Amino acid sequence: MPDAIFQFPRGFMWGTATAAHQVEGNNINNNWAKWESEPGRIIKGQKSGLACDWWGGRWKEDFERARNTGQNAHRFSIEWSRIQPEPDRWDDEALNKYLEMCRWLYRNNMTPLVTLHHFTDPLWLVERGGWENEETPALFARYVRRVVTSLKDYVNLWVTINEPNVYIFSGWVSGEFPPGKNDLACAVKVAVNLIRGHAAGYKVIHEVQSEAQVGVATNYRSLVPARSWFLLDRPPMKIQDQIFNRAINDCLSSGKLNLPFKKVNIPEAAGTQDFIGLNYYTRDLVQFSLKDYASLFGRRFFPKDADLSPTGFIANIPAGMWDGLKWAHEYKLPVIITENGVEDHLDTLRPRYTIEHLHQVWRAINFNWRIKGYFHWSLVDNFEWERGWTQRFGLWGLDTTTQERIRRSSVDMYETICKENGISSDMVKRYAPEIFEKLFPAD
Ligand code: FCB
Repeated sequence: MPDAIFQFPRGFMWGTATAAHQVEGNNINNNWAKWESEPGRIIKGQKSGLACDWWGGRWKEDFERARNTGQNAHRFSIEWSRIQPEPDRWDDEALNKYLEMCRWLYRNNMTPLVTLHHFTDPLWLVERGGWENEETPALFARYVRRVVTSLKDYVNLWVTINEPNVYIFSGWVSGEFPPGKNDLACAVKVAVNLIRGHAAGYKVIHEVQSEAQVGVATNYRSLVPARSWFLLDRPPMKIQDQIFNRAINDCLSSGKLNLPFKKVNIPEAAGTQDFIGLNYYTRDLVQFSLKDYASLFGRRFFPKDADLSPTGFIANIPAGMWDGLKWAHEYKLPVIITENGVEDHLDTLRPRYTIEHLHQVWRAINFNWRIKGYFHWSLVDNFEWERGWTQRFGLWGLDTTTQERIRRSSVDMYETICKENGISSDMVKRYAPEIFEKLFPAD
């Protein structure tokens, strides 16, 4: 018998999250395929290629792995360019493949959570200006209607758009994602169109399926002033927090997009979320810096002694998960942790990272906050966008040359959590003894 356990509520969803372009392989008809073919876009010129070969059928063996290790839910995404390869052509065979995946999950008692847009856009759409074009929200809604109509017998949890904030920032501010721009006016235009697209999608989903639960997955970056005693660190932190973490989600409740340099009314967006999707990975300190005008005079960095992931991409700061939960809770809607995880090919950090972050989730649940599920990023190593294959987020590792899956010890760790529906002192002792005292202090 375990000595102590942080128990989660009955019916809690335990799953992993994936996204079409990152796992399917052979996606050749979207803007990322094109981006990968351009020199200098992806680290070491890497490509998604066959990825995890889900389109070739390996989704099933990975879903079986998830089921056999206690997971009762899975979040994955639909690739728009497969469903609608050309503006006036729909591919029902592709749609049927997704239907098969949903049916498999349903029959295996795993709740599917389906994302309709996860960073990639069909090439034909991009040729018409993509999300810079104000006709795109209506086109998106048309695609959403098609997908939801076919999958609704098996799916009632939908994320319309994954991380609109990252999509905009990376595509139109930092330029690391296509279209690789640095253009604030365009970024605002894209934000407005994404919000309109979400709102139109929300309406369509509820028309087709009245019991559907719809949300957006927001990448919440915890931000704190670098020096609590230095008042000038606060304004840039607040401004970044408003733009990155709050503006879009606030607009989905109030219908008002409130950016420091621009206000836009989007009344049709008011009240268009049934749950808050929280993607949390890490926290930054923000320090006032005159030089950093591009980041609105706030330099962001990790604490000096931070517990870093192998490439330095993520600092293990569970307190930031608490900030994220608090942020989500304030919208007074149910919350789903739609992503959380860490790149760690050595699998030495992942167990303590996961356990410590889940401990924060448990704390929030004990305040009766309505937290419905947790989706670990990710089930198996997959293509990490501009960072290619250099970062490994999977519970299972992937050998990209042989397609072999490598069972990391985190698989067993997560299986124990899913099956016990909680974090027991026994399992912490086994998988992350270094944090045992912190979680279960002797006195
Ligand atoms: C998130 C993305 C997801 C994955 C993780 C590591 O921002 O939604 O696709 O790349 O980061």
